[in-house]
Amino acid sequence: MRAKDYQAILKAASEVLGSAMHIVDVDGITILYNEEMASLEKIKASDVLGKPFRKVFSSIPEEESTLLAALREKKSTMHQEQTYLNAYGKEITTINSTVPIIVDGEVIAAMEVAKDITDIKNMSDTILDLQSDLHPNESKPKGIKQYHFDDIIGREQAFEEIVARAKKASRNDVTVLINGETGTGKELFAQSIHYDGLRKNGPFLAQNCAAIPESLLEGILFGTAKGGFTGAEDRAGLFEQANGGTLLLDEISAMPIGLQGKLLRVLQEEYIRRVGGAKDIPVDVRIIATINEPAEKLLETGALRRDLYYRLGIVNLHIPPLRERKSDIRILVDEFLKKYNDRFGKEVWMVSEGAKQKLLAYDYPGNVRELENIIMSAVSMADNEHALTEEDINIGGGYRGANPKIDGFTADSGTLAEYLEDIEKTLISQHLMANEGNVSQTARDLGMLRQNLQHKIRKYGI
Ligand SMILES: Nc1ncnc2c1ncn2[C@@H]1O[C@H](COP(=O)(O)OP(=O)(O)OP(=O)(O)O)[C@@H](O)[C@H]1O
Ligand SMILES: [Mg+2]
Repeated sequence: MRAKDYQAILKAASEVLGSAMHIVDVDGITILYNEEMASLEKIKASDVLGKPFRKVFSSIPEEESTLLAALREKKSTMHQEQTYLNAYGKEITTINSTVPIIVDGEVIAAMEVAKDITDIKNMSDTILDLQSDLHPNESKPKGIKQYHFDDIIGREQAFEEIVARAKKASRNDVTVLINGETGTGKELFAQSIHYDGLRKNGPFLAQNCAAIPESLLEGILFGTAKGGFTGAEDRAGLFEQANGGTLLLDEISAMPIGLQGKLLRVLQEEYIRRVGGAKDIPVDVRIIATINEPAEKLLETGALRRDLYYRLGIVNLHIPPLRERKSDIRILVDEFLKKYNDRFGKEVWMVSEGAKQKLLAYDYPGNVRELENIIMSAVSMADNEHALTEEDINIGGGYRGANPKIDGFTADSGTLAEYLEDIEKTLISQHLMANEGNVSQTARDLGMLRQNLQHKIRKYGI
């Protein structure tokens, strides 16, 4: 086969795979520059093909080009995050892998493959900025509910034992691993351990590890250092921001395995290094991690590194699901009635027999959060009633929120769109109130993106 044929095959392969690809030969002349790469960098393929890489990309210092390093030193660079301006001046972020192509021990070419992650990068920067806006080195951020052990409700013996162990953990400066299904109160426990513990005057920060690519999560946790070509900002990560306090790492088993290894090292050595940085920065942070599946299963499937598990689980707290402690439903309901009567200015103090039966019969896949939502919804909808009836208890209808009454739409209600917006606005306000203004929690309750919720809050002027 001729060289041209191989190039055609490669080009087709790269396009089928949907990756941006750039190949230079041993002399640094571009021999393949596919459409994806052209649209990413906003450079015409014809301006690059057949030309010396160094000339076309003269703004990139030679020592920072991974392609040239692959040619010169046979060096592979895998999954490196790069932020740079494309030819339109738009900042883009890619994950790049560059490899030398070696035949009979000699480098004959170098190949770079890139994936555009600009949108995800913007999201993670927003998270970091919001975190530092919310916690500008102060230990008690305003507007965010702080939980203490007094807020944890439950009298069942097994549950009380867990609370007792959590209290003990709060008096010792050890890492804690909390295991429980969604809505069982993991955050409640984590905050109580912090705010009733030795580090209560330090910051409390939380990060969910799910659904964030490895290189970004690494930047979020450990920060980034300004790099010439990579263009990253100098930014402190959550470890630095949480110094002297506690960092809650939610869904630790969703953290990519490589990063779990780095986290373990940080826990052992007590210093971090910013991504792209050279300095070791000492950090003093207590880690509380959560998982929402049984540890044995996560260890078996390899989602959670065993060595990290042992290091994190110095104290292991398993919070039982609500269906396994149904005798606590009554006191939880009483507590939530108090809370939401107060909040909505209602006087609903009684629960009818039918309503009680209905509440006890249900198995609460969303656990205490679901029960709380059911009561909140019932109280907010009750008009001039002093008792919750069976009909007030809306179970299972999408447990994440209050169910609006949908029979209220009439000719006077305006258009359907206006009516739906009204319902949306009401629900958002209610949940925001219930979460004391905590936008992240409200977004989670409503199953929407935080950015999306913030947009709606501005739009509706809530
Ligand atoms: N034992 C409890 N007493 C009082 N309220 C509770 C209890 N457990 C949970 N809640 C309430 O339920 C809601 C959810 O709790 P939390 O956010 O701590 O759950 P989680 O386990 O972190 O859930 P997820 O896995 O979805 O993040 C909160 O509003 C909290 O106030
Ligand atoms: Mg949580």
